[in-house]
Amino acid sequence: MSKKIFSGVQPTGNLHLGNYIGAIKNFVNLQNDKNNFCIYCVVDLHAITVKQNPEELKKNIRETTAAFIASGLDYKKSIIFNQSLVSAHSEGSWILSCIARMGWLNRMTQFKEKAGKDKEKASVGLYIYPILMAADILLYDATHVPVGEDQKQHLELSRDIANKFNLDFNSKNFLIAPEPLIQKNFARIMSLKDGNKKMSKSDPSELSRINLSDTKDEIFNKIKKAKTDTQPLPENVNQLADRSEAENLLGIYSSLSDQSLIQTINEFSGKNFSYFKEKLANLVVDKISPISSEINKLLKDNKFIDDVLNEGAQKANEIASKKVKNIKKIIGL
Ligand code: TYM
Repeated sequence: MSKKIFSGVQPTGNLHLGNYIGAIKNFVNLQNDKNNFCIYCVVDLHAITVKQNPEELKKNIRETTAAFIASGLDYKKSIIFNQSLVSAHSEGSWILSCIARMGWLNRMTQFKEKAGKDKEKASVGLYIYPILMAADILLYDATHVPVGEDQKQHLELSRDIANKFNLDFNSKNFLIAPEPLIQKNFARIMSLKDGNKKMSKSDPSELSRINLSDTKDEIFNKIKKAKTDTQPLPENVNQLADRSEAENLLGIYSSLSDQSLIQTINEFSGKNFSYFKEKLANLVVDKISPISSEINKLLKDNKFIDDVLNEGAQKANEIASKKVKNIKKIIGL
């Protein structure tokens, strides 16, 4: 079955192994299936829900685009663009914010985590951000959205918004409720310092994550210092119970070597962590270093990156502006 794929990544710097394994690697696999039509967006309007330095933001938009291309996304096969170049996202988002209910947004756990204790000081944008995300997806009639586990709730909201719109305006199937594509395994890569916390660009500890821009020495050092436990590696999946750090590292190894967790467990069963960490560090370097050197190469040519984004935005605009026009017609504007 042909799928229409949409997904996005925020250009907030520090793209890490969680973004790569949880999302970007999957974007590339989906793109390489000829039946799929893929749209990948650098969601810069999402990034400004927290304060950004304008120069840094510009740099990070290009860097995220470079990371897409360096990881294997091809602007000739997929539409690659940045959100702020297509004004339909903002316009659609406003209209959908009149469909979404306060109660739905109040349930969003990511807002609670990100806003922290002082939610009165969080931007209104951060609160309504899942509506912008719904607009991103719904304006392209995306049928499937590849994301990491942390975005699941936001996708459910997109589905709720689509269904309510169709119901309110008696326009069955006009907005397509998208299916999440969340990998069964490895959809949640955890911090290297705490196996119960997501690997995240906002973690103050650099040792908690491997960035796509890390050097070989940094990768070796971070994996060497990654938290583990005192037992040898497990002989079967059951022995991973309550060993979140071991599970995470074995998961990273499995994903990057394109094998199942069980195969990785069999490969290392009974071995000690220092042996495994050495193998893991070499694998991460093998997979990440070519990406990071390609990112650096691409970043020397801003014009090329800007051309990719502008060309992608033109194509995206054709689709999204038409959809907004139809939405307006349906609601009587
Ligand atoms: P963002 O920029 O935080 O993350 C980009 C993608 O990386 C995934 N991810 C992870 N996966 C596994 N383990 C982790 N530790 C990890 N950390 C991040 C995220 O799940 C995501 O898939 N709201 C979105 C961006 C967005 C979007 C969209 C996505 C905006 N509009 C429309 C899909 C469709 C976000 O902030 O992702």
